[in-house]
Amino acid sequence: MKLISPLGHVDVVIPTPLAVTRTIGPWTVGNVLGRGGHGKVFMGTSTKNEVVALKVMDVAAGDAAFVSEVQVNAVLTQLADKEDDGGRILRQKEVICCEDELVSVHVPVVPWTLADLVGGWSSGRCIPHTLMGVKFIHDRGWMHHDLKPTNVGVRGEPPRAVLLDVGTSGFLEDDDGSMEPEPGCGGTVTYFAPERELQPYNHSVDIWVMGIIGYEVTYGHHPFKFLLNPWRKGEEHEKLRPVFEKKYQEAIERLAADCKGARESPTAGYIHLGSFLAKMLRYPWAQANCEPRIAIDEKARHD
Ligand SMILES: Nc1ncnc2c1ncn2[C@@H]1O[C@H](COP(=O)(O)OP(=O)(O)O)[C@@H](O)[C@H]1O
Ligand SMILES: [Mg+2]
Repeated sequence: MKLISPLGHVDVVIPTPLAVTRTIGPWTVGNVLGRGGHGKVFMGTSTKNEVVALKVMDVAAGDAAFVSEVQVNAVLTQLADKEDDGGRILRQKEVICCEDELVSVHVPVVPWTLADLVGGWSSGRCIPHTLMGVKFIHDRGWMHHDLKPTNVGVRGEPPRAVLLDVGTSGFLEDDDGSMEPEPGCGGTVTYFAPERELQPYNHSVDIWVMGIIGYEVTYGHHPFKFLLNPWRKGEEHEKLRPVFEKKYQEAIERLAADCKGARESPTAGYIHLGSFLAKMLRYPWAQANCEPRIAIDEKARHD
């Protein structure tokens, strides 16, 4: 459709609305909610006024990664339904196979992720709630494995967190179990705990990420972002470690100082999580702050 101005010029071109809407199974496909590594996530609506998130993946049926993702989604959905997660875990409603796409259908649809809210007042309030979602899966043997701000949905007032992208979670049979490192595979290196690509690791890698996310939402930026993981074997990685350690210690000192300052001059309703974030960010090779990383129980008691 074209708008013609009184002088006869074409001022703007407004796209003509599409007459044909796309459907996937019973779902009418709406706006894009987000993009990920394998495809897009769209809003979907049904004639019964149900609203879902359609995660459309450009992969062939039988693709191993997709099969594993939807299976893990299904197990976690069952757990969350059976044991009441307080709405903290994304549910998979169904899986639809189209010709060259596979679609995993999720609820709830969240209006934001923590990435949209980083630095805002409400985002800090989501951290304890997110931690309880992480604790819910940890207590049942699962670790999320790919926590980061874009994988934590936020909805409602007061804001409540929903763990998204749970399909790559890993399961450990027993409390002493561990996963073998797989350098270069999966996840997002800027959120990897130092041990993750160097030695067998466990649920505690999720706690490290929560420390990073907590820092990010408090200060508006990642505390020590590197394109390469300094904590992987190999010269090009290892040579980054002194710079990492410097930025790391600065971040830990800032958390401690600001937390102390907030305690000394309390502002109504404001809790600075600095000392707990620092405990979540412990790692064995740190020059200071090298004690065992805190567990979520200790954090939860604090709140
Ligand atoms: N249930 C949902 N509601 C709203 N947005 C969502 C939902 N699920 C995913 N998204 C958006 O889509 C993005 C990609 O989805 P995600 O499942 O994380 O895919 P990927 O595995 O490719 O990272 C998310 O970061 C988020 O912005
Ligand atoms: Mg994701």
